[in-house]
Amino acid sequence: MKTAFVTGGASGIGLALVEACLARGMNVALADIEASARTRAAEMLTGHTGQLLLVPCDVADRASVAAARDATIAAFGPIHLLCNNAGVGTGGRIDTVPPPAWEWLMGVNLMGVVHGITEFVPHMKAHGEPGHIVNTGSMAGMNGFRGMGPYCASKAAVVSLSEALAAELADTALGVSVLCPGSVNTRFYESRRNAPETVPPPPPNSREGRAIAEGRPITIDHGISPREVAARVLHGIAAGDLYIFTHPEMRSMIDDRHARLSAAFDQAATFPGDR
Ligand SMILES: NC(=O)c1ccc[n+]([C@@H]2O[C@H](COP(=O)([O-])OP(=O)(O)OC[C@H]3O[C@@H](n4cnc5c(N)ncnc54)[C@H](O)[C@@H]3O)[C@@H](O)[C@H]2O)c1
Repeated sequence: MKTAFVTGGASGIGLALVEACLARGMNVALADIEASARTRAAEMLTGHTGQLLLVPCDVADRASVAAARDATIAAFGPIHLLCNNAGVGTGGRIDTVPPPAWEWLMGVNLMGVVHGITEFVPHMKAHGEPGHIVNTGSMAGMNGFRGMGPYCASKAAVVSLSEALAAELADTALGVSVLCPGSVNTRFYESRRNAPETVPPPPPNSREGRAIAEGRPITIDHGISPREVAARVLHGIAAGDLYIFTHPEMRSMIDDRHARLSAAFDQAATFPGDR
């Protein structure tokens, strides 16, 4: 694969994906909403044989995604690897999350992936060369966690979309993967830096609210490195893996969920009602 397009490429997992692709000699479009982060990323991404293109892109805006695609094709020609990676988070109990925060989260995490698929897949099918789509989901898309309802819902949607897309593209030269990490050391807890002004600030007594008031970063404890994730992703693409996991220690949580689902089928099978 010669050319990659990575959304949310200016920080964290996206930046590591950009770097890993450049290191393999690929040409890479780094698509991101944050102008200063794009510039910082370009300053550190030197010394690779692959070429780097910085493209402004708001994945929540379909026209912006289409324009970024066109700029990439103009610079590099056909695109082979699409990483729908941009994502944001907002915490809080489901009944307390304000509507603008829901709209922002779903606009980026769900519609951002939808826009990537609708704007790139026709191009990738039409050029006919082998390619791959990686959607960044999360372990939060594999289970519902208290205090993370909107984020879990958005990532569960990304997992389902990816499964459907893989089935729809099964007879093409395009593979599909969904990346589902646990904690990774990135600026994810500072997602709000890119939120529209309509999203109200976090409560002052929350972890995020206190950090903002004190002007300090919000770190992710016990996270693995984004580079480790990127290496895992490139291996998963080469292997044609639909699910790319990075935290084997979270297996028991998924096994527990499957046991509960299985038990629900047992209940259905023994239900004595009319059929
Ligand atoms: N960090 C974790 O622990 C973790 C775990 C599981 C999944 N994820 C997922 O990984 C992905 C990357 O997040 P990260 O942890 O690297 O965070 P990050 O904040 O370090 O990077 C996210 C990047 O996305 C960009 N972005 C935000 N809104 C955008 C928009 N509307 N359009 C284009 N770009 C936009 C940001 O500018 C930033 O460069 C996200 O989808 C996130 O949900 C993260």
